[in-house]
Amino acid sequence: GATSVLDRLAAHRLVPVVVIDDAQDADALGAALVAGGLPVAEVTFRTPAAADAIRVLRARGDVLVGAGTVLTAAQVDQAVAAGADYVVSPGTSRAVVERCAEHGVLALPGAVTATEVQAALELGVTTVKFFPAGASGGAAAVAALAAPFGGVRFVPTGGIGPADLADYLALPAVAAVGGSWMVPRDLVRAGGTAAVRTLVADAVTLATS
Ligand code: 3PG
Repeated sequence: GATSVLDRLAAHRLVPVVVIDDAQDADALGAALVAGGLPVAEVTFRTPAAADAIRVLRARGDVLVGAGTVLTAAQVDQAVAAGADYVVSPGTSRAVVERCAEHGVLALPGAVTATEVQAALELGVTTVKFFPAGASGGAAAVAALAAPFGGVRFVPTGGIGPADLADYLALPAVAAVGGSWMVPRDLVRAGGTAAVRTLVADAVTLATS
C-alpha cells in the first residue's frame, strides 16, 4: 500500500528523476539503477515515452517506480495503468490527489509554502515534494517550513546536486531527496548506462556517509 511505498522511498533516501525519450532505454536504465544500489525511478510525464518506460521498469520487478510530473487525473490513470507505485506532481492538485486515493496509490504533491502545505494536509497528504527546492530557499527553507508542521515530511527536489545533497538529508523532516543529476537525459538516451551506474553509486555513497 501507500505507506509501504513511502517507507521504501525513505529507506532509499534518494529518488532519481528520469526524463526518458525512448522506452527501449528503460530496461538498461533500470539495470544501471539496480547496479548502482538505488532501485528507484521517478519517470516524468514530460515525454510521450513515460508510460511505456514505467511499464518496462515495473516489469523488471526490482525497481520502485514512480510517475512524475503528473498534472491531471487522466495522467494518474495512465500512470497507474502502467504500474506506477506512486505519483508525483510539481504542485498540489485536488483532482490528482483524489484520483490517487481512488486508486489507492501514494500521491506526492508539491508544496513549498505554508499555505500549500496546509492545502495538502486538507487533502490528507502528509508527505509533500518540496519543489523546486533550490529556487525555493533550499534546505534552510525546508527546515523553517517543517517547524510548524510536525507531522509533515518533505521530498526536496529541483536544483539539488552532490554539493548540497547532505544539507537536505540532514533534516529529520526530509524523507528523501530527488533529482535528475544521477540520470542525465542525454546519457540515458545515449545508452550510457555505465556512467549512470557510477553517478548513482556516487550519490548513494554521499547519502549514506
Ligand atoms: C523534477 O521534475 O522533479 C525536477 O525537474 C527535478 O529537478 P532537477 O532536474 O533540478 O534535479
